[in-house]
Amino acid sequence: MVSEQLNRGLRNVYLDRTESSFIDGEQGILLYRGYNIHDLAAQSSFEEVCYLLIHGNLPTQEELGAFDKRLRRQRAIAPEVVETIRLNQKAHPMDVLRTGVSSLATHDPDTDDMSKEANVRKSERLTAQVATVVAAHERIRKGKEPVAPREELSHAANFLYMLTGAEPSAEAVACMDLDFILHAEHGANASAFAGRVTASTEADMHSAIVSAIATLKGPLHGGAAEAVMKMVLEIGTPDKAKEYVEARQPRIMGFGHRVYKAEDPRARHMREKSRELSARVGKPEWYQILQAVEEAMSRYKRHGIHVNVDFYAGSVYYLLGIPEDLFVPIFAIGRVPGWCTEILEQYDNNMLIRPLLRYTGPMDLEYVPMGQRQG
Ligand code: CMC
Repeated sequence: MVSEQLNRGLRNVYLDRTESSFIDGEQGILLYRGYNIHDLAAQSSFEEVCYLLIHGNLPTQEELGAFDKRLRRQRAIAPEVVETIRLNQKAHPMDVLRTGVSSLATHDPDTDDMSKEANVRKSERLTAQVATVVAAHERIRKGKEPVAPREELSHAANFLYMLTGAEPSAEAVACMDLDFILHAEHGANASAFAGRVTASTEADMHSAIVSAIATLKGPLHGGAAEAVMKMVLEIGTPDKAKEYVEARQPRIMGFGHRVYKAEDPRARHMREKSRELSARVGKPEWYQILQAVEEAMSRYKRHGIHVNVDFYAGSVYYLLGIPEDLFVPIFAIGRVPGWCTEILEQYDNNMLIRPLLRYTGPMDLEYVPMGQRQG
C-alpha cells in the first residue's frame, strides 16, 4: 500500500528503529546508547565512547584497555594510501579524505568480508585510520613528510601530534577529545543516512563510509563550522555582528537544526571551550564576536532556531591553530564510530532503503525523431 503523504527531505519520518542514539529535539536531549551526552562530555573519553557505540555497552577497564590497544596498533596506513594522498594533495581535505578511505579499502584485509566480526574489525580500523589520513594530507600539502602515529598517545593527542610533529598541550588534547565525543553519533543525520543507504544494498563498510564522508562535506551539514569561522573573520569586531546578521538574513551558519528546536545540547560544551580557550590564548575577540552573533540571533529562538554544535566548534579549532578547511574532516574523525555503528545496525537487520519520488513531469509525450525536432 503506497502512502500518498509526501515528506520532502524525509522531515519527521522514522526510517527504522535504532539503539545507537536518542534525540529529543524539543527538550534538547541527546543520549548515546542511553547515556546522556553531558555525562559523557564531562566524564568519558573518545575511546570509551567509541567502545560504547561500536560494542553497545560501557567497557570494563580491561575491555577498554584491549580496545584502545587495538585502535593504537591500527593507526598506520599503507604507503600506497599515502601515495594516493600525495597525488591528490591539492584537493579540499574532505575530497582527499573521501579518496583516502576508498584507498584504505584496497588495502584492508577484511574489505569484502561481510561477517559481523569483520565489520566490527573494520569499524575499529576505520576509527583508528581516518585521523591518520587527515593528518598525512595536512603534512603533505605543506610540503612536509607525514608524521608516524605514536602508540603511547591517546586518539586525540596522536591526531594533533601527527598534524604538527609536536606533542600537544594537555588543554589542546582535552578540547579535541571533547570535540570528538560530541560529534561521535547523531542518529539519522544526512551522512549517517547516506551510509545506511549504501549499506542497505549490502555494499561493504568502506563504501558506506565513503558515502557518509561525501555527504558530510556540505555547508548545511559538517561544512557549517568552516562557514561560521569565515563569517567571524569577515565580521572582524563584535560591534559589527548585528549589522552583519541583519544584512545576511535569512540564514546564518551554525544556527538551526532539522531535529533540535531547543538548543543543541552539544553546543554548550563547545561554547565553554571557546570561552576558556580564547581567554587563555589572549584572543577573546573571537568568542566575543560569536557571542554578539548569538545575541543578534536571539529573536529567532521563538521560531526554534538556536545555535548548533558547529557554531562554537570552528572557533575552538581556529584557536588551536587548525586551518579552516580541516574543520569538516575533524568532524568526520569524530563521527566515524557513529557511522560505523549505524551501518552495523543496518547490516544486522537489513532492508533495502528505496523510497519513492512523486513524478510531476509531463506524461505520454510523442517521441519526435532528431531530424524532425524544431529549434
Ligand atoms: N538562520 C536563519 N534562519 C534559519 C536558519 C539559520 N541558520 N536555519 C533555518 N532557518 C529558518 C529558515 O529560513 C526557515 O524559515 P521559513 O520557514 O520562514 O522559511 C525555517 O527556519 C526552517 O528552515 P529549513 O531550512 O526548512 O529547516 P531545515 O530543517 O531544512 O534546516 C538546517 C536545517 C540545519 C539545514 C538549517 O537550519 C541551516 O541551513 N542551518 C545553517 C547550516 C548549519 O549550521 N548546519 C549545521 C547543522 S548542525 C551539525 C550537523 O549535524 O550537521
